[in-house]
Amino acid sequence: MAKNSSRKNIFNRPGYILYNSLLLAVFTCLTSSPAGAGAGTMETCGRKNEGKKILIIYESKYGSTADYVARIARNLCTYGYRVDYDRVLNAADADIPAYDGYIIAAAIYFGNTHPGYKKFLDTHRATLAGRPVAYCHNALNKARTGNSSPRTFWCFSYLQLLKNYPEIFSLPDFTCSTCPDCSNLPAVPYWVGLMPGRWVPRNGCPTDYIAMEIGGYGGLKDYERLAAADEYTERLVTNRFFEP
Ligand SMILES: Cc1cc2nc3c(=O)[nH]c(=O)nc-3n(C[C@H](O)[C@H](O)[C@H](O)COP(=O)(O)O)c2cc1C
Repeated sequence: MAKNSSRKNIFNRPGYILYNSLLLAVFTCLTSSPAGAGAGTMETCGRKNEGKKILIIYESKYGSTADYVARIARNLCTYGYRVDYDRVLNAADADIPAYDGYIIAAAIYFGNTHPGYKKFLDTHRATLAGRPVAYCHNALNKARTGNSSPRTFWCFSYLQLLKNYPEIFSLPDFTCSTCPDCSNLPAVPYWVGLMPGRWVPRNGCPTDYIAMEIGGYGGLKDYERLAAADEYTERLVTNRFFEP
């Protein structure tokens, strides 16, 4: 009898450990902060410049939005702007009204942006409403070199992030349901950057990885990311977006 129960315990132990490890992995994935979040450090460039002061707010779970933002900031600073950039979760500490213009840079996860953007835009709605605010959209869906499909941009529900704040983001009155074949798409405004997303499965959580594989987004796709960031900055500068 004693022998049996000790054997049972031995056989149960690996299952128990595996079960708990899986639970821990899922919990860690679901609750993990985006890479670097919480550091509380605003990054900055162009301190000695005399141009307009720009704040870039972003979030980045796997690092590509962070790369875009660093490149865009660097570019703007070479054009004479003063740029600060920080995670949306840290933005509560920033002096938001102190800036002349803003860029909201967001990646898409399962059709949504990080909830922190909504909170940020709700809180600073009145301040941002009267100032230039650009949007940098980072997604994998229909991404192609240097850009992302305009159809993707116009048709997906995550655009609600912009549509819910018409006083901040001025967009044409357009929804996919009013244009089922989408043959006549309005041009994406120049102040919207459509950035090719980046996804390296091995860096992801199993919960993310499996869902992405099922959705057909597995594998590393090599897009011209820096070129996309450069092109976006050029458009903002050429159109004097921050110089109303
Ligand atoms: C879990 C997960 C879900 C995603 N869901 C979408 C999606 O619904 N639509 C889309 O276009 N891209 C989606 N993507 C692609 C990301 O937007 C893209 O990989 C982006 O570059 C990630 O930004 P980051 O590196 O800053 O985290 C998803 C990526 C991951 C990892």
